[in-house]
Amino acid sequence: MDLSLFSLKNYQNNLSNGSVTWSSPSNIALVKYWGKKEHQIPENPSISFTLDDCKTITELNYQRKEQVEDAFSFKVYLDEEFKPDFHPKIETFFKRIESYVPFLKEFHFTIKTKNTFPHSSGIASSASGMSALALCIMSIEKQLNPGLTDSDFIKKASFLARLGSGSACRSLEGDLVVWGKHPEIEGSNDLFGVKYPYKVHDNFKNYQDTILLVDKGEKQVSSTVGHNLMHGHPFAKQRFEQAVDNISKIKNILETGDLEAFIALVESEALTLHAMMMTSMPYFILMKPNTLEIINKIWRFRQETGLPISFTLDAGANVHVLYPEKDAKQIYEFIKTELVAFCQNGHYICDKIGFGAKQL
Ligand code: PMV
Repeated sequence: MDLSLFSLKNYQNNLSNGSVTWSSPSNIALVKYWGKKEHQIPENPSISFTLDDCKTITELNYQRKEQVEDAFSFKVYLDEEFKPDFHPKIETFFKRIESYVPFLKEFHFTIKTKNTFPHSSGIASSASGMSALALCIMSIEKQLNPGLTDSDFIKKASFLARLGSGSACRSLEGDLVVWGKHPEIEGSNDLFGVKYPYKVHDNFKNYQDTILLVDKGEKQVSSTVGHNLMHGHPFAKQRFEQAVDNISKIKNILETGDLEAFIALVESEALTLHAMMMTSMPYFILMKPNTLEIINKIWRFRQETGLPISFTLDAGANVHVLYPEKDAKQIYEFIKTELVAFCQNGHYICDKIGFGAKQL
């Protein structure tokens, strides 16, 4: 695809200082992205539910520098606390996106960020955090280039977010977003996420996601390392083909509302993601004993009641319990009485499918 859509050549240089704020949610993949090429290009297409309550709110203050220097200048605060340890990640992000947003070195930035979910919850804040920051940067670009259309704004924001953290490009819109080229999804491409363009059955409206916090600690293996281990992985080729196939299948499932097929596909995707981790070299396991306890309890409850409860997993031990709104009462009761005991300190988060980022 032509990258010139994302370049900014002629822009007004009259912006001095100000502030922009965006809130951007996390997302949970149904068909997983695991494995990437250079420049954050995914090895396979993925699709996610955008979440509603788990989000990052980022305020970006900008101040034109008196003299332009050849360096980025910014300070990061999380919950009002100065965070020099966030510096390298943002510096890397700025380096990756600088050629598309060439005004970055003209300003000093203060980045004030907070998450609606606890920092140490084991929920990655990179998707919501990177998308919120990318949107703030795009709001500055919009002021420098007022002719930018809303559609190009969102595409470029997703494109920039992807360069911060791959899955972040799926957090800007809702309720379902596809990232990665797939022949049956119109407009899908490797460079940015697109809102799922087809009909979705009412069964998936307001779909619930209760996130069971099994392990709130730092992951032993980062997703960057995990993605890299897909290079030369013995099952990589089959896995990437399977993901392409699963996107074709989920398209039909989303249209017909076939919950049984949805459950089978989503749980298989979750376990395949972890199977890739367990079969890479070096191998690793991110699930914990309580992750398996919860999965077994979900399976037993589903068998006994016939209710369409399912789970998916991120690159960690926490379990996302997914279920339709119409069965929420019974399933939530089961979660509280049977599953919460397996969460660290009994902590969990009630979320649901959401509609993307908002400027505040
Ligand atoms: O965005 P990253 O590089 O942190 O990768 C995330 C990968 C998974 O969360 C495991 C799967 C996905 O598609 O979100």
